[in-house]
Amino acid sequence: MNRIHELLGCEYPIVEGGLAYVGNGRLAGAVSAAGGFGQIGSAGRTMEQLIEEIDEAERVANGKPFGVNIPISEHSDKEAYVNAILGLAHRIKAVSLSAGNPRPFIERFKAAGLVVMTVVASPDQAKKVAAAGTDIIIAEGYEAGGHNGLQELTTMALIPQVVKAVSIPVIAAGGIANGAGIAAAFALGADGVQIGTRFVATKECQAHDHYKAELVNGKGEDTRVIERSLGRVTRVLNSPFVEKILILERDCPGWDALAPYVRGENNRRAAIDGNVEDGWLNCGQGVGLIDDIISVEELMARLINEARDAGKRLSAAWI
Ligand SMILES: Cc1cc2nc3c(=O)[nH]c(=O)nc-3n(C[C@H](O)[C@H](O)[C@H](O)COP(=O)(O)O)c2cc1C
Repeated sequence: MNRIHELLGCEYPIVEGGLAYVGNGRLAGAVSAAGGFGQIGSAGRTMEQLIEEIDEAERVANGKPFGVNIPISEHSDKEAYVNAILGLAHRIKAVSLSAGNPRPFIERFKAAGLVVMTVVASPDQAKKVAAAGTDIIIAEGYEAGGHNGLQELTTMALIPQVVKAVSIPVIAAGGIANGAGIAAAFALGADGVQIGTRFVATKECQAHDHYKAELVNGKGEDTRVIERSLGRVTRVLNSPFVEKILILERDCPGWDALAPYVRGENNRRAAIDGNVEDGWLNCGQGVGLIDDIISVEELMARLINEARDAGKRLSAAWI
């Protein structure tokens, strides 16, 4: 047992990251049923849609706890969304807060009995959210799929510095797609891992088959960072559509020119409708490790076996 088991009530300290548009209840429930900790992604969902996914996660999770990810800046009416989730607190174990200032919300979620995890990208951010009362830090490196921190710290450098900066439990995220990555995160001092991209390529994920096929075909060098000219860092899978965005960012940056390309609707169109020519797909650098689309149960068993093997290699390696 470590601190993540105790706080989240799961068997393995493997958390499914919040996944905009594709982090559905079936996936979250399956991760929790397999002993990990699943989270429903709220980005791209109305409150009514989120409640449907919570219903589904409850059906699939078999009584095991799961959570909801709340990327704060993605919700235009934050107060209403947060209040609605507070009203559902009895049905979920934890929330993870990301993409925005979490401080006004941490104590409110804790007062409702929820475990609060906060996503950070630097040791400084980790100290601030620890002081604001978050229970768990999710430290996400620059390898990760989706929005990353402007600091661009990689997982290898970030995790030990965050572990040094705070005394609360730290979950490592970014670039972890197999059991060796999990073992490495523990070697760096993390108490658990959060995985995003690898969970998209599972049978239970609602992502379109075209998206999953792109992940199986993708290599580690195939990701790009878009939105830098807008002060954001978003790691996606390269494609002609993404190359068009990068050229626009170089030649005529600014929200007006870029908005038709970078808005979330284009992510939804590619990820859910499968129209990968007319949209972009969130994707981390660990994509090169994805070779198949399997069930969450199979993936969890594989990750755990690989992590155990990697742990043995680690202890036999050089000391
Ligand atoms: C498809 C996709 C969507 C994501 N959407 C969100 C999101 O809505 N909120 C969030 O906090 N993180 C989001 N992330 C980041 C993940 O929660 C996770 O931290 C990250 O994927 C870990 O890195 P990895 O992709 O290398 O495993 C997303 C990542 C992916 C791949």
